[in-house]
Amino acid sequence: MFKKPVIVFEGIEGSGKSYHISNVSKYLKKKKIEHIKIREPGGTLNAEKIRKLILNKQSNFNKDTDLLLYLAARSENMSLLRKNYKKKIILIDRFIDSTIAYQHFGLGVNIKLINTINKFLLGNIKINFTFLNVVNKDNMIKRLKKRKSLNRYDKFNNVFYKNVQNGFLKLLRKNKKKYLMVNSNLDIEKNKSFIINKIDQLI
Ligand code: TMP
Repeated sequence: MFKKPVIVFEGIEGSGKSYHISNVSKYLKKKKIEHIKIREPGGTLNAEKIRKLILNKQSNFNKDTDLLLYLAARSENMSLLRKNYKKKIILIDRFIDSTIAYQHFGLGVNIKLINTINKFLLGNIKINFTFLNVVNKDNMIKRLKKRKSLNRYDKFNNVFYKNVQNGFLKLLRKNKKKYLMVNSNLDIEKNKSFIINKIDQLI
């Protein structure tokens, strides 16, 4: 459908997005299809430095500072994205929807400010498709408990994650053609083939 799409994986903690994006990357590698995979915050050297600063448990920035740091990390990724845009498939683990879901729907930061800076950073770069991974509260808690260490953003209360997930769902409902919801409470193997089938249609 798209020659070299930009495909984003979104979802709250424990929703399986990082697992699925890695699986897609493995699948493309096996098929010898050129692609890059990055995560946000992070992905490039400087953005990873900013990630450490934001997610460090000792940090206690206010919500506007957090927003600006997430966007600063994104800014550091833009030259890599521009260089590969429409030349290689780009897989991104979290992108602008995470900023809207976490900083606006979760923390109440002004949406206009978020949209303005994202627009400035992205320029003509467009996201072609987003997989939104959703998970219920019990499975989210179960999966977080299995993690060796938790970062600063793994420690909000359940109401926060509920608001964030509802925020993601609002974005999906606005533009259903560009999203696929993956119910991560269901069988992981079935979800893997569900996602790969869609990937085959997208590339
Ligand atoms: P992750 O490793 O689970 O993706 O952790 C990154 C955390 O950063 C996650 O809690 C979501 C959060 N985040 C934001 O709050 N805003 C953003 O713009 C991005 C990209 C991530």
